[in-house]
Amino acid sequence: MTAPQTTDIPQPPMAPAQLPDGAQLVLRVMPLPADVNANGDIFGGWIMAQVDLAGAVLPSRIAKGRIATVAVNQFVFKQPVSLGDLLSFYARITRIGNTSISVRVEVYAERNPTELHVVKVTEADLTYVAIDAQGQPRPVPR
Ligand SMILES: CC(C)(COP(=O)(O)OP(=O)(O)OC[C@H]1O[C@@H](n2cnc3c(N)ncnc32)[C@H](O)[C@@H]1OP(=O)(O)O)[C@@H](O)C(=O)NCCC(=O)NCCS
Repeated sequence: MTAPQTTDIPQPPMAPAQLPDGAQLVLRVMPLPADVNANGDIFGGWIMAQVDLAGAVLPSRIAKGRIATVAVNQFVFKQPVSLGDLLSFYARITRIGNTSISVRVEVYAERNPTELHVVKVTEADLTYVAIDAQGQPRPVPR
């Protein structure tokens, strides 16, 4: 008996969404009950931590070494995040300076599996600095 071709196996539908042009998917994660706040939504601090992790992916690659977050220049919670949402983090480099790299992160929630749809929940601008072994800024490799 031959194994079925993967093209024969029905795949789940893609969730419809207007995803950011030219950005890269850097993280996907689903919050857990421990991440819920007193309103029953997901705690903003947990979302901020995930955005910081996601935002670091492309700058780390460019810096080819250690980086540190120097600033969260903008952070907007556009919609609440709910338990059961699958979050996708898209990132795009917005500036490369001498020692710093800025990035825009946009977060989309895939929700309601019975009638799947995607909602933009958060957007943020962060800046990371390439650092040396002493934690001091070093030039971004060109
Ligand atoms: C990151 C750190 C090494 C920078 O050191 P520093 O002496 O302040 O460095 P500088 O003032 O020379 O700034 C370094 C770069 O950051 C940029 N920068 C500093 N503050 C910024 C801000 N608020 N927004 C955007 N960029 C900023 C500077 O413009 C510079 O970029 P450039 O070299 O591309 O022009 C130091 O501030 C630090 O260790 N901070 C703590 C980091 C940390 O613990 N983060 C959380 C955990 S990762």
